[in-house]
Amino acid sequence: MGRFTRFKNMSVNDEKFTPQYAVLPILKYLPKDKIVWCPFDTKNSEFVIALQENGFEIVFSHITTGEDFFEYEPEKWDIIVSNPPFSNKKGVFERCLNFGKPFALLMSNLWLSDISPSKLFKNKELQLLLFNKRIQYDEKNRIPFGSSYFCHKLLPKQIIFEELEVIKGQYSRMYQDFK
Ligand SMILES: C[S@@+](CC[C@H](N)C(=O)[O-])C[C@H]1O[C@@H](n2cnc3c(N)ncnc32)[C@H](O)[C@@H]1O
Repeated sequence: MGRFTRFKNMSVNDEKFTPQYAVLPILKYLPKDKIVWCPFDTKNSEFVIALQENGFEIVFSHITTGEDFFEYEPEKWDIIVSNPPFSNKKGVFERCLNFGKPFALLMSNLWLSDISPSKLFKNKELQLLLFNKRIQYDEKNRIPFGSSYFCHKLLPKQIIFEELEVIKGQYSRMYQDFK
């Protein structure tokens, strides 16, 4: 039984975890001398694993370990990188922008048709790392939307098109925590 079984009733849409092949493309844009905070991640998150394996100094936190992103902030961090919960996208981006530090958050492209991003980023640069393929978060393989990294103060130019090497059948090890 997974460690976080008691949190099973959390929003089902929030519990979609990022496969490693979708984490790797953002790594080359992250400065090696900065501390990366993954605020929606356990030790089995592919963000946490890939960043550690690639020599980054990181801190990670998750609501199930009592670190609610809206209340908690680690003592030292420089950049936020993660895939946030879908249920409160506006609140997450608002808080990230208020910190004033760089971030890269994986998000559905459908969010661009919402009014929130145009309000939130009206006077703040939104940078996008767009993929040529859709990320499949689970074995159902039916994700009907593309996802991009919505970034701020991070990418060398505002829009970057990236090739995504989808690895069929590769899913996040973070699912183990919620079995
Ligand atoms: C879309 S999932 C992505 C998880 C992981 N970042 C990844 O990419 O595999 C978002 C995670 O954020 C967690 N979460 C929801 N609300 C949170 C909060 N207020 N603070 C921290 N984590 C939260 C959810 O339980 C969920 O596990």
